[in-house]
Amino acid sequence: MKPVYYEEGVLKLIDQTKLPTELIIRSYTDYREIAKAIVVMIVRGAPAIGVTAGYGVYFGALEYVNETKEVFYDKMKEVCALLASTRPTAVNLFWAIKRMGCVLQTNSNKECSQIVELLKKEADDICAEDIQMCRDMGKYGAELIHAGDTILTHCNAGALATADYGTALGVIRAAHEAGKNISVYADETRPLLQGARLTAYELHAEGIPVTLITDNMAGWMMKQGKIDGVIVGADRIAVNGDVANKIGTYSVSVLAKAHGIPMYVAAPTSTIDFAMKSGDEIVIEERDCREISHICGIQVAPDGVAMENPAFDVTPHQNVTAIITEKGVVYPPYDINIPKLSGEK
Ligand code: MRU
Repeated sequence: MKPVYYEEGVLKLIDQTKLPTELIIRSYTDYREIAKAIVVMIVRGAPAIGVTAGYGVYFGALEYVNETKEVFYDKMKEVCALLASTRPTAVNLFWAIKRMGCVLQTNSNKECSQIVELLKKEADDICAEDIQMCRDMGKYGAELIHAGDTILTHCNAGALATADYGTALGVIRAAHEAGKNISVYADETRPLLQGARLTAYELHAEGIPVTLITDNMAGWMMKQGKIDGVIVGADRIAVNGDVANKIGTYSVSVLAKAHGIPMYVAAPTSTIDFAMKSGDEIVIEERDCREISHICGIQVAPDGVAMENPAFDVTPHQNVTAIITEKGVVYPPYDINIPKLSGEK
């Protein structure tokens, strides 16, 4: 299940706003349309957004390849700025644009056509590396899961949120593939229901036992001893181990701590913001309140009522048992152990 891939001159995105009832694959060659697809969440999930933005930069460059070098570089600034303005919280977006920017910078002496080729290669590399990172995370993370465990997850940190395989769901997949006989509770994840629409869809399609619950049921499931561990993804991790992820993750972490249940975060090092000391600095995306007042187009709240719609929250590092990365499992103290991952291959 690849939500983002390049094929014969076109960027293909699974339209995740239509899942699970319709599987529609959309085609893109215009970077403006690619930026829009990120904003309206046709593509979503931190690593998948990063991969998409990489190809967005490439398609922007392709559009301006016949301009003079000066115009080409001016236009590339606009392309990168537009893509960077789409969603503020997931650091993978900025990480991927920065990687593409480095290719632009270090090859400024070459012909525009050569630069465009190098950008395509970088976008392909970002995509391929993401899949490999998910597989490696899966391998490390599966060791933390015991045979017969039931895992709670929140939002969708699956294949649909990455180039393939997934972060939190990658760990779950790897444990399932290792024959650990695990099962999953999926929080539905209001307001946009990524858990119900995407996680339940992905796991069910693959035959991994999954039970869907509403967000407010998680605590009661824990109280009854039905949950052995929590695994979630991340949109940005600060150096002190504070984790921004889908709204509701913080509440799950508090519940897990109260019940003595381990709370794992699975994320590639591209999700770590090595420049950010703590989660207090993370910008939380505020989205249109129509996502709250309406469910699948049906109005569920009165006209004119006040609403707030933060799309993410920050789980304090004290609530995170360990962070699973493609380089291994990181334990507290995070402010000592996370910087060790910087620059390591
Ligand atoms: O708003 P979304 O659907 O893009 O939010 C996605 C999440 O919060 C995921 O948990 C996170 O990006 C990790 S995806 C591997």
